[in-house]
Amino acid sequence: MIVDLVVEGKAYIDGGLVEAAIAIDDGRIVSISNPANAPESEEKRVAGSGSIILPGMVDMHVHLRDLNQAYKEDWYTGTLSALRGGITLVADMPNNDPYVASLEDLRLKLEVAEEKALVDFLLYCGLPRDPREVPEIRRIACGFKIYPEDYSRLPSLLESLSGGLLVVHAEDPEILEERRKSVKDPRMADHGILRPGIAEVRAIEKILNVARGRGVKLHFTHLSTGDSILKIAHSRLENGNATCDSTLHHALLSSEALERLGGIAKVNPPLRSRSEAAKVFNAVKSMLVDAIASDHAPHALEEKLREEYDEVPPGFPGLEIYLPIILTLILDGRLPLNVINLYSRNPAKILGVRRGAISLGFDGDLAIVELGGEWRINAADLASKAKYTPFEGWAVKARVAGVFIRGVPAYEDGELLVSKGFGRNAREP
Ligand code: DOR
Ligand code: ZN
Repeated sequence: MIVDLVVEGKAYIDGGLVEAAIAIDDGRIVSISNPANAPESEEKRVAGSGSIILPGMVDMHVHLRDLNQAYKEDWYTGTLSALRGGITLVADMPNNDPYVASLEDLRLKLEVAEEKALVDFLLYCGLPRDPREVPEIRRIACGFKIYPEDYSRLPSLLESLSGGLLVVHAEDPEILEERRKSVKDPRMADHGILRPGIAEVRAIEKILNVARGRGVKLHFTHLSTGDSILKIAHSRLENGNATCDSTLHHALLSSEALERLGGIAKVNPPLRSRSEAAKVFNAVKSMLVDAIASDHAPHALEEKLREEYDEVPPGFPGLEIYLPIILTLILDGRLPLNVINLYSRNPAKILGVRRGAISLGFDGDLAIVELGGEWRINAADLASKAKYTPFEGWAVKARVAGVFIRGVPAYEDGELLVSKGFGRNAREP
């Protein structure tokens, strides 16, 4: 049999790096062998000595905006960022304009995504306005997302959400409201006081309590404190099945970035103290968190530079720089090699898709990464419309050289090889 493609080189397989030939046919990985035994192929790529082959990365928390917020990001620029960052699957949040909380809004978003996406995608739906739509929504969306302002509606919807994935933004709305009242005329430096770590811990307790035993797969996203991550670990020991992720900004940056960069570094939940960030970093290192997610949250630069605290929207882009930063930390000996799973196979498992690993029968999603050079993060080079980052100027020792999606060369040496609309909804029924 002559397969479509063989990619050969040092590959990340089963948690280690091995010399392998990965054969892809009809979009799927059909054999993994010693290069000497590689099947005959129409096309062949060899990852040279300074490069490694990774599974395509999976980012389970992004905001690609579009529609009325296309000035911040659209599905083309957002997925181009993903591609250039070695990411072959993104899961997109529903807090758009229009907000996605109905079948109609979801279908509209799917249409835009299908028209413009360069990488595969999954869509979350907000808490549904009409629970009767849930079965149909589930055919399209990979799960639901709950924000603090929706917590009060959760009990009445739990039954309809049973069996599905519910991603939680954990910040207790009552604590946020109290803090808001106690701080008159807030400034940027008050951000962490207005949204304290304890609000995250309390929210986790509340949601775990409400949803316990109700058959919902809870996933707590962008956790920013050590205590929050421990809460999830404890809940699992008590037979729960909740999972969590954290971000690189919560693991590597602190509130000092807010002092230095102002609104650019404003994000929800806020960047915490240095010691808190160290706890999050250690939780990533020991793989106490189930996943890493970028929370790629682009806004216009003009919005991020506003003077007034309340006028600055939270969030910043991350898609294009996550894998290079993770690999740099691995090369520097600060993180173990298998942390790669936190940004590939683990989130894919949570999302219920057979992606994120170089494994027989899986989609042929691969990222070829060049290691060892030194590059600087320069926001002006990002494909995202949001050309700023709190990681500006950081030195990274990894660069994405090529990406294959379902066996198709999608990106090679700075060149885009697929066109708008190549990306598909990866929802597996
Ligand atoms: O910083 C954030 N930005 N946190 C969120 O929860 C929302 C996000 C956004 O959509 O900009
Ligand atoms: Zn988010």
